[in-house]
Amino acid sequence: MGKKVMKIAILTGGGDCPGLNAVIRAVTKTLILENNAEITGILDGYDGLVLEEYRKLGYSDVSGILAMGGTILGTSNVANPYKYPVKDCDKIVFKDLSKTVIRNLKKLGAECLVCVGGDGTLNIANSLFRDGVPVVGIPKTIDNDIYGTDVSFGFDTAMSIAAEGIDRLETTGQSHHRIMILEVMGRRSGWLALYAGVAGGADIVLLPEIPYDMDVVAKVVKARNGMGKRFSMVVVSEGAKPKGGDVVGRKVLNDGSDPIRLGGIGFVLADDISRMTGLETRTVVLGHLMRGGSPTPFDRVLGTRLGVKAAGLIQKKKYGYMVGVNGSDLVDVPLTVVAKGSRLVPPDHELIKQAKSVGTSFGV
Ligand code: F6P
Repeated sequence: MGKKVMKIAILTGGGDCPGLNAVIRAVTKTLILENNAEITGILDGYDGLVLEEYRKLGYSDVSGILAMGGTILGTSNVANPYKYPVKDCDKIVFKDLSKTVIRNLKKLGAECLVCVGGDGTLNIANSLFRDGVPVVGIPKTIDNDIYGTDVSFGFDTAMSIAAEGIDRLETTGQSHHRIMILEVMGRRSGWLALYAGVAGGADIVLLPEIPYDMDVVAKVVKARNGMGKRFSMVVVSEGAKPKGGDVVGRKVLNDGSDPIRLGGIGFVLADDISRMTGLETRTVVLGHLMRGGSPTPFDRVLGTRLGVKAAGLIQKKKYGYMVGVNGSDLVDVPLTVVAKGSRLVPPDHELIKQAKSVGTSFGV
């Protein structure tokens, strides 16, 4: 009897992010070259497992995709097999289709499912593992908020785009003596605002983890004006909120994704700043520009490292883990640990202290 062929399935779930294709390429190439494996790409995240929508991934399918943005497999941020949205007349109802998914995976003959995603996708991976599916997780998100890893791929690209945004807003803001506000993504975590703010030398950085005091923000802007700097650069996280206030959401959702689609705090802030200082203010919301396009070399390298590391876990049949980064080392972390929550910016984080040392205000 011939040797059994190794069959592996891979999906990308949640919001897309630069570096996903680098990961798909690394997992696929490693397992084809080292194990002659058969790789099945699941289309559109967990949706593809419910609907049995797949494509085979051969070596040539993953060649030339390292620098490509998005994901060649497609993704979904609402497809949760344990709470799958199904249309019932005019309403959306949620059904547990996890057994269907497990049955479909068995039909595929996959000995492991690689789940590349953020906290939502990895939580589902953890539940599938609990229910008997051999899984390996790979952390993806521009927000950098996954528990168990110091960094996720996609963050560097998104942060660099935001830093470039700050550079560009500064020159126009300086010319017009305006207060420029850049609203960045990140959900309930402020990593993107913090790193981009420091990289761009922002004067004020507002994070979800440190509710701001509007009086302090106005005072900083006025003080700069008093020093002859008739311009200020403010970076605000989409999830930031004033002391005693709440986040600003564009939409309340009931489709299985995040219940609030954040966005708009930059405009609220602009109104408050111009009312309290009398200065002209403009807001730019970067939004999905941060997620699109080619990954930075750092994210290509990180995606490759994490993908090869995940392939290594599969080769050892070490399931139920997410690969991650600890300092400069790659590690594997139990998915049960990853599922514990989000990694937020600690208010006493070293970079916050360093930013304060160079005069950046956090609005408190
Ligand atoms: O989690 C990644 C992220 O880009 C967040 O920063 C943002 O709040 C959210 O996804 C946007 O999601 P969507 O693509 O559904 O608008």
